[in-house]
Amino acid sequence: MEHTLTTAWRSPSNIAIIKYWGKHGNQLPINPSVSITLSQAYTETKVSAQRKSGDSTSVAFLFEGKEAPAFAARIEKYIGTLSEFLPFLHDVDLTIESSNAFPHSSGIASSASAMSALALCLADLQMQYTDAPQSPSVFFQQVSLLSRLGSGSACRSVIGPVMAWGETDLIPGSSDVFAVQLHDLDPVFHTMRDAILIVDDGIKSVSSSAGHALMQGHPFGAARLSQVKTHLADLLKALRSGDLEHFTVIAEAEALTLHALMMTSANSYVLMTPNTIQVMNHVRAFRRETGIPVCFTLDAGPNVHLLYPDAHHARVQQWIEDVLLDFCKDRRVIYDQAGHGPVRL
Ligand code: DP6
Repeated sequence: MEHTLTTAWRSPSNIAIIKYWGKHGNQLPINPSVSITLSQAYTETKVSAQRKSGDSTSVAFLFEGKEAPAFAARIEKYIGTLSEFLPFLHDVDLTIESSNAFPHSSGIASSASAMSALALCLADLQMQYTDAPQSPSVFFQQVSLLSRLGSGSACRSVIGPVMAWGETDLIPGSSDVFAVQLHDLDPVFHTMRDAILIVDDGIKSVSSSAGHALMQGHPFGAARLSQVKTHLADLLKALRSGDLEHFTVIAEAEALTLHALMMTSANSYVLMTPNTIQVMNHVRAFRRETGIPVCFTLDAGPNVHLLYPDAHHARVQQWIEDVLLDFCKDRRVIYDQAGHGPVRL
């Protein structure tokens, strides 16, 4: 290796409709999940590899131009687990620079975009190092697997607009080790918008990893697994037929189940705030009154994602600004939409 090798990728976050909650083994999900890949909430990461100067691989990490020791430690540990897949890591020192398009303090989960952007760069550098180009489908499948090892939900960010992760008879080719793109979607799902209402921008009181662990021996664990089967079968039907009414029912049931599981685990905890509940009630009332198919979902935090087809954007945006911003921290909202996944910069 004579020269420094460099690459940079932009990778988006994603919002799960069927939630991944509970894992086993090496980052394997206890149930299949389905998500929409976003476009505006992304991470950009640049990685350079130089010939190694010492015995072990050194990793220099800058987040938004500054050192970020907590995240650097997670990244170093993650990279340490990847050399069996990316042998070039034995020979190099790495310099990583990363930044997010969404404000760091927005309370938006950034592990999906951050880990997938990093996995893209590392897989790309491996390809450059061995000078052995891979087809896009092989490349993105491997990137999904590598992303999963960094953060489970990250494996669903690598393509779009709708991805599934976790082996199930209902999705041919599905796997526990990487995510696959869902085909045969009704066109309306290519136009889905996600308005992310920033109800609270604080750091999560319980990490997702700690939350996943509480699914082991959860009193409602078996019921959750059978509920997922029904939700997945119904969601796949709705995605193919464009049935937004059923899509809404499933998305909201999954969000409320996720939080109900947190509230009923051995070490129970509550991430919703009074404003989260106010917003959810407003969404249901607005839908009843207008017939506009807008629904809510939540990830592991208090912020509310509003999902709706692009055709209703103007009306929904007006309502968000007139009514819902009162429930948001500093009246903040991020307008995002379904996208097609990462791009090389
Ligand atoms: C609630 O992917 O953050 O957002 O694998 O421990 O990194 P780790 O967990 P993470 O969990 C996300 C859970 C979720 C639901 C989902 O995205 O499916």
